[in-house]
Amino acid sequence: MIGSARAVAGPNIALIKYWGNRGDPALRLAANGSISITLDSLWTEVQVTFDESLRADSLRVNDQAADAARLARTHGFLQTIRRFASLECYASVESRTNFPIGAGIASSAAAFAAMAMAAGHAAGLQLELSELSRLARLGSGSACRSIFGGYVEWIAGASDQTSQAEPLFPPNHWELVDLIVLIDEVHKPVGSTEGHALASTSPLQPARLADASRRLDACRRAIRQRDFAALAQVVELDSNMMHAVMLTSTPPLIYWQPATLSVIDRVVRLRQDGAAVCYTIDAGPTVHCLCAPQDADSVSSALAQLKGVQRVLRASPGEGARLVDGAA
Ligand code: DP6
Repeated sequence: MIGSARAVAGPNIALIKYWGNRGDPALRLAANGSISITLDSLWTEVQVTFDESLRADSLRVNDQAADAARLARTHGFLQTIRRFASLECYASVESRTNFPIGAGIASSAAAFAAMAMAAGHAAGLQLELSELSRLARLGSGSACRSIFGGYVEWIAGASDQTSQAEPLFPPNHWELVDLIVLIDEVHKPVGSTEGHALASTSPLQPARLADASRRLDACRRAIRQRDFAALAQVVELDSNMMHAVMLTSTPPLIYWQPATLSVIDRVVRLRQDGAAVCYTIDAGPTVHCLCAPQDADSVSSALAQLKGVQRVLRASPGEGARLVDGAA
């Protein structure tokens, strides 16, 4: 055996979204910067073992052999690590999550952040967090943000060397709650990787990009000042703008289910009634409802009652990716 390491990382929820790449899609150079919160109660743990006796890369997810598409994506990522480390041998990868895969929670961010850290360490590379962020980005764009904890910004940059995340504020800067409202899925959504490739077909994408630095500034300022009303305004605008681009792509991408709209409607009314809550939606029907801790119980039970809502998970700002001891 050459080396083995295990790392854990949490998913993140984007407050300002990454949607669309520039240039070679394999490099995942985001068309715009993004800001997210790394989440604490959901995690993915990945063990990577490089071993000369292996005849191929292998991937097990929650104790089951992964499907061909997941294995191919992991193999591609391991090829990058082997190139960096001048390694020739294959690896076995064991991944475990404490949240259901395919339940509408983006799992690739946590998986590739943990995999970058575990594989980099197992391959003997001594990488700074900024280098790990760039490496994780090659596996999944949003994974570059999960390397860091708390409030994180992905600086879009102009090249492979300059497109990386950096921490903005630590987890305890502002203890918001993310209520993750899982919705019954009728259709399997188109994955984000295919979605990013369609962004430039929307006539609305240029307008979304032209306004991105203003939204990033507004979001950074709202977080710095812990100004919930300002945060709600920019977060909902940014999510709506991304979904407007999705809806007007060729072919159109419609990620919302009827219950997604019911949740949006309820969140807006709860806010009018005085609760500090706002919504944001990634590439799926799941709605993330950010709220103040004192409003979390009442908002959660109001949303759980809506038709088409499966269940509501809860998370808060958490730590970035980290190595853990022992075998998986
Ligand atoms: C809507 O990072 O999942 O969640 O790089 O192809 O893996 P790949 O895409 P991914 O895209 C995330 C899209 C999003 C917005 C965001 O998280 O910023």
